[in-house]
Amino acid sequence: MHIRQIISGIAVLLVTASCAPTPQVEKKSEPAETLKTEVPKPRVGEPVSPISAATVSNVDLVELGKKLFFDPRLSKSGFISCNSCHNLSMGGSDNLKSSIGHKWNKGPINSPTVLNSSMNLAQFWDGRAKDLKEQAGGPIANPGEMAFTHELAVGVLQSIPGYVDEFKKVFGSVPITIDQITQAIAAFEETLVTPDSRFDKWLLGDDNAITKDELEGYELFKSSGCTACHNGPALGGNSYQKMGVVEPYKASSKVEGRSAVTGKDADRFNFKVPTLRNVALTYPYFHDGEAATLAKAIDVMGQIQLGKKFTPEENAKMVAFMKTLTGKQPVFEIPVLPPSSDDTPSPEPFGK
Ligand code: HEC
Ligand code: HEC
Repeated sequence: MHIRQIISGIAVLLVTASCAPTPQVEKKSEPAETLKTEVPKPRVGEPVSPISAATVSNVDLVELGKKLFFDPRLSKSGFISCNSCHNLSMGGSDNLKSSIGHKWNKGPINSPTVLNSSMNLAQFWDGRAKDLKEQAGGPIANPGEMAFTHELAVGVLQSIPGYVDEFKKVFGSVPITIDQITQAIAAFEETLVTPDSRFDKWLLGDDNAITKDELEGYELFKSSGCTACHNGPALGGNSYQKMGVVEPYKASSKVEGRSAVTGKDADRFNFKVPTLRNVALTYPYFHDGEAATLAKAIDVMGQIQLGKKFTPEENAKMVAFMKTLTGKQPVFEIPVLPPSSDDTPSPEPFGK
């Protein structure tokens, strides 16, 4: 017994003695190694900066805006919602050359993505709306889009008890106003930010986030001069530029761009530079939707903006780079809309 106790005592001592120092050594060496190899340093001096997820301050307002974004009852037909032309399952666009509005109306222009649109200096290709709130009122009353009026849209929502309750909860006041509607939609749109693209990971210092070809595509994008216009966090959205700097662009659409807003001849064919984030999802390209593929859009840009002709290999590398700009798409449950009441005006899908 006595000897056994001593032996087991020694054994315990040995165990503790042999165990104790080991974790200490590990604790000391591990963080040092992690620092060296695993904490990436954000790259400095790049013309493009990474984006981070939107922070939601008013959850109820955003939820209401999400419902309105998906609600076709804001249109005369009762069939067209914001999501019809800015489909959040398809990069926030409709993937059509030009959008289809009320009574199958052929729109004059390609629908830009709503993803990351909060980063734009203004809204629309010609910047005629100063922000998302001002923009959101446009399509509802546009005869070629949702073909409604603000008064009728308000009337419809006011006839839906579920909405009345929700507006009351969010704004604390009734009746519903168009101002509240556009404010809620804008708040939802502000959440449609797409962080964590592979390119962002690379910008944040992860060397392995993009391949050699993709990196070469980015280098070419920079050295060719594309970043003169496609720069900043959205790779665009922050300036108006001429479409056709070196050579004129023969558009299939009649719109003339920024001059429609400023009235200045010098602004003819100036358009807001589109964001290139998620550009692999937002085909076809340009305000007239004439470039069906990224390869085509890059060729046209090289030629008419910079006077450059890219080899097929160079073009392919830039396409590869652009595909790294697809970020984490907004993820949420499809909103369940409150049902109409007996007083809700009937939709007029075939009304003029
Ligand atoms: C019938 C299709 C259609 C519907 C419906 C529609 N849009 Fe659009 N949207 C477009 C088109 C086309 C443009 C570009 C118009 C222009 O620039 O002249 C656009 C532009 C925008 C822009 C500007 C993006 C940018 O980069 O400039 C935003 C934001 C937007 N729409 C949000 C909405 C919201 C919110 C709704 C619902 C209230 C809506 N849209 C309904 C087709 C549509
Ligand atoms: C002088 C400014 C300028 C330069 C330089 C420039 N772009 Fe653009 N880019 C624009 C403008 C403006 C548009 C929109 C034109 C339009 O649709 O009318 C555009 C559109 C695009 C689009 C289509 C995006 C969409 O959603 O429709 C792609 C892709 C693109 N540019 C890539 C490039 C590449 C690649 C380069 C370099 C080879 C380049 N751009 C150089 C101004 C520029």
